[in-house]
Amino acid sequence: MTKTTEKLTYDNKIILAPMVRVGTLPMRLLSLDHGADIVYTEELIDWKFLKSIRRENDVLGTVDYLDKSDGTVVFRTCPREKNRVVVQLGTCDPQRALKVAKMIENDVAGIDINMGCPKEFSLKGGMGAALLKQPEKAKSILSTLTQNVKIPITCKIRVFESAEETLDLVKELVSTGISAIAIHGRTKAERPQHPNRNATIKFIAENVSIPVVANGGSKEIEKYQDIIKFKEECGCSSVMIARAAEANCSIFRKQGLLDIETVIEQYLKYAIDYDNSPSNTKYCIQNILKELQETPRGKKFLECQTLEQICAIWDLADYCRKKQLQFHSQGILSRREITP
Ligand code: FNR
Repeated sequence: MTKTTEKLTYDNKIILAPMVRVGTLPMRLLSLDHGADIVYTEELIDWKFLKSIRRENDVLGTVDYLDKSDGTVVFRTCPREKNRVVVQLGTCDPQRALKVAKMIENDVAGIDINMGCPKEFSLKGGMGAALLKQPEKAKSILSTLTQNVKIPITCKIRVFESAEETLDLVKELVSTGISAIAIHGRTKAERPQHPNRNATIKFIAENVSIPVVANGGSKEIEKYQDIIKFKEECGCSSVMIARAAEANCSIFRKQGLLDIETVIEQYLKYAIDYDNSPSNTKYCIQNILKELQETPRGKKFLECQTLEQICAIWDLADYCRKKQLQFHSQGILSRREITP
């Protein structure tokens, strides 16, 4: 891939938030098309990268990190997103994080450390929100990266009940040399339906010198203008959008939302072009369709087992078949069936 000197900055940016299973290559590219400035990957656990091997895929024009044991794609990226993609790592270990960072630093624009995930898997492993209670560990991970990696390092946190306590933590994290910090305005115990603590985000943004990226506003975001409103309420120049983009990533379009049929077609084209796995493709479309899965067409979609079957519903079966034949003839063997 071509080398670049352009360093990613986090001021005045509208960002696709990290989302497990959602933030794979097709969704990232489509979000960029619709106006996102930066796109985060889904959280990728450090040891998964360490078990993978880097391959340049000439047929797809991608760089792939493939699991050494079964060949599945751990992370796939391409030149189009190279200056805009941030890999979010799940880690609890500075040296492991550094090894991964060194593996990927020439392929991506930035690395983010997940310090907000409240799921048991993360907490048990000392990752995600567990790091909020271990500031020394969190700082050690961040400073190991900022001192040894040439691309920007960031982290994403949740807030504490107390805005002052949150600010104290943020100041500690900022002291490591990170380039920005994303703040989800809910505590570890709060769920997505709880109000987002926009005032806490604003208080922090007013009191630190690096860009604060506001997150947690999707419940009130139905159109592009709502993103701007959320950003202003949080006193930040940058925002990060998860659920509103998961449902319809044309939320990033200044000119207004596109209908979901159009978005699904666009998404499917990328899924075909980049040989995205059928199960991941299906999952992402399910999250766009939501209650429309109950319609006869939605039910037909749910029965689909292959990418081609999914594509047939959106009149892309021919396109899919042609591309897949081409990939087959050039030696790419993707998993064709969704295993239940
Ligand atoms: C998430 N979120 C999340 N956060 C994170 O740091 N790493 C991740 O991998 C994920 N995965 C994930 C998957 C899905 C399906 C959702 C909906 C959310 C949390 C997300 O990035 C964000 O912090 C919250 O959703 C709040 O932002 P919104 O949704 O209000 O914009």
